[in-house]
Amino acid sequence: MSERIDTSVATHRPRILVMPDAPLADAHVAERIAAYLARESRPVLGLATGRTMVPVYAALRERFVQGRLSFAEAESFNLDEYCGLLAEDPSSFASYMRRHLFDHVDMAPGRYHLPDPQAPDAFEAQIARAGGIGLQLLGIGRNGHIGFNEPGAARDSRTRIVRLEESTRRANAGDFPQGAVLPTHAVTMGISTILEARSIVLLAIGAGKADSLARAFDGPVGPACPASFLQLHGDVTVVCDAAAASRLEETT
Ligand code: F6R
Repeated sequence: MSERIDTSVATHRPRILVMPDAPLADAHVAERIAAYLARESRPVLGLATGRTMVPVYAALRERFVQGRLSFAEAESFNLDEYCGLLAEDPSSFASYMRRHLFDHVDMAPGRYHLPDPQAPDAFEAQIARAGGIGLQLLGIGRNGHIGFNEPGAARDSRTRIVRLEESTRRANAGDFPQGAVLPTHAVTMGISTILEARSIVLLAIGAGKADSLARAFDGPVGPACPASFLQLHGDVTVVCDAAAASRLEETT
């Protein structure tokens, strides 16, 4: 694939916070989410799934139990969902979110949303009706994906159905029972949808993310590394451990 580089737009370097270890990075992200929830009268969160986020949601649950956090006024929108799975399927992202967060906190069922493969445009309309996403949480794939915007995703993409790369399916195979046929497609917020969030926090842990982080923030902006489009956003904070930061040229 030849990379189309748009040199006509201003790029920004994100704040890159390298934490001494993964638990401190997780705690820092949870702290940012808690502060956002406390600050806003109508908080709108963009949420991510994946292994990276498991300890972040554990930290949020703990704060909730301690009475230090409430989702009562919050509304949330998840980045993505597999196609072809029922919401009740334990491998769906809807199940993941209930298991790790929604079933344990005070967010009302009608206030959290995952994109529906049958109605991607309706998801965009729901986000708009909520007033847009205030704080978007992101992980990053080893191939540089954000959400399920795989390499090749366009800057102006919106919520839509995409085909998953084989490497992504392999990376996520552990979330499915042995022998299960993994989904080939997913529905994901687009790059434009993500860039419209007012503030973005990306969490990356471990040496396996070092290459994609360096490509995202030290490389050119373009579809070869979808996370590189985050350079077009003026309020991105990357929180990572030293292993994930090891290939970055410069950190904050
Ligand atoms: C999940 C998502 C993905 C993951 C990424 C990293 O909702 O949108 O972009 O953030 O695949 O996944 P983990 O954390 O499992 O390495």
